[in-house]
Amino acid sequence: MNVYDSTRMSDALARDGYEPTEDMEEADLVLLNTCHIREKAAEKVYSALGRLREMKKKKAADGREMMIGVAGCVAQAEGEEILRRAPAVDVVIGPQTYHRLPEALRQAKLGRRVVDTEYAIEDKFEHLPIADSRKIRARGVTAFLTVQEGCDKFCTFCVVPYTRGSEVSRPVSQIVEEAEKLADSGVREITLLGQNVNAWHGAGPGGEAWSLGDLLYRLAEIPGLARLRYTTSHPRDMDDRLIGAHGDLRALMPYLHLPVQSGSDRILKAMNRRHTAAEYLTLIERIRTVRPDIALSGDFITGFPGETDQDFEDTLRLVEEVRYAQAFSFKYSTRPGTPGAELKDQVPEEIKAERLDRLQALLLKQQQEFAESCIGKEIDLLLEKPGRMLGQLIGRSPWLQSVNVDAKASQIGDIIKVRITGTGTNSLFAERAEAAV
Ligand code: 5AD
Ligand code: SF4
Repeated sequence: MNVYDSTRMSDALARDGYEPTEDMEEADLVLLNTCHIREKAAEKVYSALGRLREMKKKKAADGREMMIGVAGCVAQAEGEEILRRAPAVDVVIGPQTYHRLPEALRQAKLGRRVVDTEYAIEDKFEHLPIADSRKIRARGVTAFLTVQEGCDKFCTFCVVPYTRGSEVSRPVSQIVEEAEKLADSGVREITLLGQNVNAWHGAGPGGEAWSLGDLLYRLAEIPGLARLRYTTSHPRDMDDRLIGAHGDLRALMPYLHLPVQSGSDRILKAMNRRHTAAEYLTLIERIRTVRPDIALSGDFITGFPGETDQDFEDTLRLVEEVRYAQAFSFKYSTRPGTPGAELKDQVPEEIKAERLDRLQALLLKQQQEFAESCIGKEIDLLLEKPGRMLGQLIGRSPWLQSVNVDAKASQIGDIIKVRITGTGTNSLFAERAEAAV
């Protein structure tokens, strides 16, 4: 989401003549795009700002200006406090107000430091500029497209509902227009984004209620667009239409990131996830019934307050049962202002870490098993970018794995048939297969 937001900021600033640079020395403006999901985020930002302040001073001594902005969820959460603690900062801008970034910078240039984190929910998406074709092409053959922002779920460990605000869905017409523009500009694969993407809802052409499933059917009709994905989902919002789409739509890739966080009903309840472990497993079974080759991914938290050894064992059991192709796992991190922070029975750091190690060992084993199970398979590969070796390209498998194969740079954007021959640390190797007749 933040990678995508950064491109949106860059697009908004392009109108004022700004261009991205890889070289901080050269920059007239440095924007920190920040994440607040786990601990120490704010502290990391302040220490980065300390370093930037030195750079700003040095440049000023040479008569050059360097403005500093803080964007993202730390900006949203800290607000004015950033201006107080970091005098070198010119602009603080929350994730819902990026369209006002150019104006904030103009104000700051006149010497008025700006904090802009207030927004009207209705126009969250109204002002998002769509990049021009040249830029889209330069960014490659895969793209993100935001369809939904914010979250109303209020899991008790999570800051997102506070930093990103309540759930807002982008209208169908805007989404389709952007998807068509991307496809016309050479994009072959779009990943729909949202903190709670499958809570997306909208209205079809006749005013009928649409869920994410309906939207996917519509997007699958766009010529040139070969692949669709979406992330991140909540188990509660996997409705029949969306599950059906996984069975029907060739363009919808067989990969699903569906966080469960814990395998213990007691902990799921304390987390306010509003489903049980058994309900999650049933859901997985239903999805596998319509799309047997689907690769599953998840998020897990170890050491949520009150988590016992038994609760943790339940998580390991659930993981054994699901068999994940990929996963992300974290130690519970207390977020001030969330209900979880108030709970007694906080779990000691060593125990959180010990459980995380065990869980990650299991998840890694599953990930390797999944990769190895691909060897010998013939798959469609979307060629994305040059590989590390001359004469090679890196592509994406339907299951989101990076795959190295011999191919020419002119083939970027093509989808070719390959046979998986081996696995590396974080990628696979493949050889060209005969094109299917
Ligand atoms: N502590 C640890 N992990 C967290 N996540 C969200 N909040 C916390 C927290 N307070 C994890 C969840 C979520 C992912 C994006 O980050 O697993 O799915
Ligand atoms: Fe956070 Fe996801 Fe729960 Fe929303 S659904 S509160 S974003 S963990």
